[in-house]
Amino acid sequence: MSKQHLKVAVLISGTGSNLKALINAVNQQGLELHIAKVISNRAAAPGIAHAVDAGIPVSVISHADYPDRQAHDSAVMNVLQEAQVELVILAGYMRILGEEFTHAYSGRMINLHPSLLPKYKGLDTYNRVLQSGDSETGASIHFVTAGLDSGPVISQVRIPVFANDDATSLAARLGPIEHKLVVATVELFCSRKVHYDQGRVLHEGQVIEQPLQLNNDGTFD
Ligand code: GRF
Repeated sequence: MSKQHLKVAVLISGTGSNLKALINAVNQQGLELHIAKVISNRAAAPGIAHAVDAGIPVSVISHADYPDRQAHDSAVMNVLQEAQVELVILAGYMRILGEEFTHAYSGRMINLHPSLLPKYKGLDTYNRVLQSGDSETGASIHFVTAGLDSGPVISQVRIPVFANDDATSLAARLGPIEHKLVVATVELFCSRKVHYDQGRVLHEGQVIEQPLQLNNDGTFD
């Protein structure tokens, strides 16, 4: 692993398809990323298998084993501290983090969310998009701050909503595109082009007024 590789931890709770997309990008596209640790808060998360197959160390830190959020957060932070990562990627990590955690990793933790933030923070995004009659939706990646899904948005990708869509079809269409977004966005971190600065996103040294938009060809506007 070269010194330039960005050392990260990926936190998951479920399928781990975004983790898998990152692993594939490392193995097949030469993404300069070192996934030093995968942490799951669920022992049964299917995504753990992707990490095991790739030889990535996994820690299962089950929230059910801790008396409260703070105790569980502390256990996760201890493992992250040992791993000495530069960036924490929440990829389908279905836990709200306490303020101590978000503060400790301010500017060093990102989250994937399946909506065009600031719309539809929280759960059940696809049904909420459909109920609102929106003509498009998408996925966002943002820096994690204390508020749920509220930190500054780094990047987004958009897809149209069709008249015959349901939550299942929307999720199926967005999934592969969200994978492209996570790979392209993490690549910006690997090449040290994106930074956090006092609640703002810097891209190549400039504050961005709007999230970077991923194009079909994998580049950003
Ligand atoms: C993604 O849609 C992500 O935006 C959301 O949870 C899902 C995780 O999917 N936070 P996976 O576990 O990576 O397959």
